[in-house]
Amino acid sequence: MAIAKVIQYSDLPEDLQALLKEHCDVTRVGISLDLPQEQSLVPLFADVEGLIGVGQKVDSKLIELAPKLKVTSTVSVGYDHFDVPALTRRGIMLMHTPDVLTETTADMIFTLILCTARRAAELDRMIKQGRWTKTIDSEYFGSDVHGKKLGILGLGRIGSAVARRAHNGFNMEILYFGRSVKERAETEYGARRYTLDEILAEADFICSVLPLSDETHKLIGSEELSKMKKDAFLINGGRGPVVDEAALITALQNKTIRGAGLDVFEKEPLPIDSPLLALANVVTLPHIGSATHETRYEMAKCAVDNLIAALRSQSTKNCVNPEVVE
Ligand code: DGY
Repeated sequence: MAIAKVIQYSDLPEDLQALLKEHCDVTRVGISLDLPQEQSLVPLFADVEGLIGVGQKVDSKLIELAPKLKVTSTVSVGYDHFDVPALTRRGIMLMHTPDVLTETTADMIFTLILCTARRAAELDRMIKQGRWTKTIDSEYFGSDVHGKKLGILGLGRIGSAVARRAHNGFNMEILYFGRSVKERAETEYGARRYTLDEILAEADFICSVLPLSDETHKLIGSEELSKMKKDAFLINGGRGPVVDEAALITALQNKTIRGAGLDVFEKEPLPIDSPLLALANVVTLPHIGSATHETRYEMAKCAVDNLIAALRSQSTKNCVNPEVVE
């Protein structure tokens, strides 16, 4: 007997799809719930109690169409695409997938640090284009990573996993910027908390893992970029709009910083005419922080489990707004 009517708006692995169907009455719709444009979807929302998927903006307009909605379950840790206050006002639980993607995302951020510093993508292109004709000289030299200063903006789960790699594997000095003191990271990785300005002035690599909020939107703009060292790198593995992309493009074009490694952008997918794509001193990745077979499976499993548990017993494990059931 199904516990609830659910709309599923992105793919799930076969066994998890079956698990969801075992518990819920599931309607699979396309990725675009772009309502009210997709008028045909409107009637579906009248009696839906659960939503599951990723990549969909869930705003107050969409919520209004679903008077019986109880739980939304996103297959992501980030939830900036949800209007959380609107969900909370309506008593709708928002579930997400922390922890299962921490290590994989930290691996990717370290890939960006190494790839950017050692110019791996640029030099790979050079060979493939038949331009490796002599021993590499200073024109193509990179920068060391080991022993350098890493400034982490946002020392949460993922930031701490990056710090562990940097400290244990690369003997890096860890500076961090954040709202609270992270005692464990201070003890275990020698991390030290600084102001943003101090980090901008000191760090060789500035790595943002910050979530997107009113506070972090365009936190790194032209003024902040101008405070970075000329040979420093900016890495963004959190959310694109935390960095003012136009200001970053100017800094990269004028070489006021040495380079950038980006997995996230203001607009995704990154428009094909973005000036970033013409720059050799930036490594661009298509938002792949958690995109491994193993981790995407674990995220989907976590999201399905979260949805079923919340619908069945109002379980608040992995709930962003547990106050709605308290
Ligand atoms: C997340 O889970 O928030 C990652 O950015 C992947 O979308």
